Amino acid sequence: MTGAPDDVHPSDDDLLALLWCPHDHGDLRPADDGVRCVACGRTFPRIDGVLSFLDGVELDDIDRREQASRDAEANWYDTIFGTYTNLVEVPTTAARVGRPDGPILDFGAGTGRLTVHLARTTGRPVVAVDYSLGQLRRLVPRCAGLPVLVVHADGRSLPLRDGAVAAAVAAEVYEHFRDADRRRVLRELHRVLRPGASLSISTLAYNLTYRVWRLLGNTGAKTGEHLLGGDFFYVRQTAREFRSELEEFFDVEEVVGIRNFPVRSIAAALDRIPVGRLGRRFEALMTARGHRLDRAWERLPLSPLTGFFLLAGARRRRGDGASGR
Ligand SMILES: C[S@@+](CC[C@H](N)C(=O)[O-])C[C@H]1O[C@@H](n2cnc3c(N)ncnc32)[C@H](O)[C@@H]1O
Ligand SMILES: [Zn+2]
Repeated sequence: MTGAPDDVHPSDDDLLALLWCPHDHGDLRPADDGVRCVACGRTFPRIDGVLSFLDGVELDDIDRREQASRDAEANWYDTIFGTYTNLVEVPTTAARVGRPDGPILDFGAGTGRLTVHLARTTGRPVVAVDYSLGQLRRLVPRCAGLPVLVVHADGRSLPLRDGAVAAAVAAEVYEHFRDADRRRVLRELHRVLRPGASLSISTLAYNLTYRVWRLLGNTGAKTGEHLLGGDFFYVRQTAREFRSELEEFFDVEEVVGIRNFPVRSIAAALDRIPVGRLGRRFEALMTARGHRLDRAWERLPLSPLTGFFLLAGARRRRGDGASGR
């Protein structure tokens, strides 16, 4: 598949070769209603175009509460990313993996804004993994006609073979794992990436604004259990904290701050001034041109202190063992 011409999409059955049975690593074969493991005979159903490896028993109560919260927010999720945000965040995240020589994993793919961009711009197959069926149901129609395999699974235990993918992105998801789970996630990403493969991964930044909030007594500035009305854990990290966790498994090439200009918040504030539709004009200007300045700002050493998110470009070392360093 890796050597397939760009205009020939691999079929779902070809992409199945990237996966294995999460219980015993057996090969998977297409079955009427999904796929079947040749070793243990378990079947994994295809639900609305999503191959599901999660029947819920793997998750504890906290996981299930957070998963339900993701399902519930699926319908409005895309609306929180204005055009401006996507213009900045999607290409900069994708740029860290370039055009890899094989399939790409979109880890915690959500409703698929990265998945669709990667499949269109690289021509490579993309495996989109998320544990929220509600989010993936919105991703499926968005990726119609593109070489995308949609997988419902827990990111801490991926049904992908060792070294299955040539690159991975993980946008806005790392910050939602608790300490021990972040290690499990990195171990899994390391395992499924080929040696030398690149990883583009972002996390919430503990930037200047949140440091001031913290000084003012707001403990939720650093970590908490609820974000944007959702029931899920989050942590904000400094560049140093993020880098040191990644370095246990990867060579980290850079950590930058992204989404440096809070354009929508500034526009909303300007809109309160009752003349000249200032907010809308500001947002339109930033969308037309200002996003380039936001991207240029990423290269400044202070961007980890101004960005809303941190973005790391990392690489699985060539020649290291299955467990990293
Ligand atoms: C903030 S969204 C980001 C979605 C997408 N990457 C984007 O940038 O638009 C976080 C996603 O991570 C998923 N997620 C959280 N914990 C997960 C887990 N343990 N396994 C798989 N997906 C998970 C959520 O369901 C949600 O869709
Ligand atoms: Zn099996």
